[in-house]
Amino acid sequence: MNLKGKKIGIALTGSFCTFDKIFKEMEKLVETGAEVYTIFSNASQQISSRFGKPEEFMERAEAITGRKPICTIEGAEPIGPQSYLDIYVVFPCSGNTIAKLANGITDTPVLMGAKAHLRNNKPLVISVSTNDAMGMNMKNIGLLLNAKNIYFVPFGQDDPIKKTNSLIAHTDRLIPTLEFALEGEQIQPILQPFTR
Ligand SMILES: Cc1cc2nc3c(=O)[nH]c(=O)nc-3n(C[C@H](O)[C@H](O)[C@H](O)COP(=O)(O)O)c2cc1C
Repeated sequence: MNLKGKKIGIALTGSFCTFDKIFKEMEKLVETGAEVYTIFSNASQQISSRFGKPEEFMERAEAITGRKPICTIEGAEPIGPQSYLDIYVVFPCSGNTIAKLANGITDTPVLMGAKAHLRNNKPLVISVSTNDAMGMNMKNIGLLLNAKNIYFVPFGQDDPIKKTNSLIAHTDRLIPTLEFALEGEQIQPILQPFTR
């Protein structure tokens, strides 16, 4: 499915090391003619780290999309009643947000947006990026893999020797993942190794 004209929510959570890759994919989506809306979790609005300052990330998102990021729960809530997004992708999705989403917790703009969007029976995509994916969070990933209207960007172990529980998504597979999800299908294979 062509993404031209599709309204896509990109929800950024606190996996800061992936943000550079996220913005590259965001640019590609805008180039394809998609209308992109960004939603920032509280952590992604507040935490400064060696990967950058949150205000710079939010400015970058606005520069790419031409829209101010959604930064509050009340700002994300209309995604439900107005049903204005075709698809919502948590990109990147932290372990924290995976755990909350799988357990029905809605205490950040990203989670509010996800809940609001899911109520409309529309596709939600997860782009996992967490060191505890195959540890404490495996059960939550399992719940989401089995949940209606939830799809995953293919993922793999990024460093099986030093970070044995870590999984990250192949962010460069975002566009085909969205195309499949909009047709109600999970792109396969979902498990894809990283070649070094
Ligand atoms: C520099 C830095 C990098 C981080 N990277 C990750 C990450 O890649 N994956 C992850 O799950 N959490 C990561 N975290 C922790 C999350 O930011 C933290 O759990 C936060 O509460 C997530 O909130 P959110 O899911 O609402 O965005 C990182 C934190 C810092 C300070």
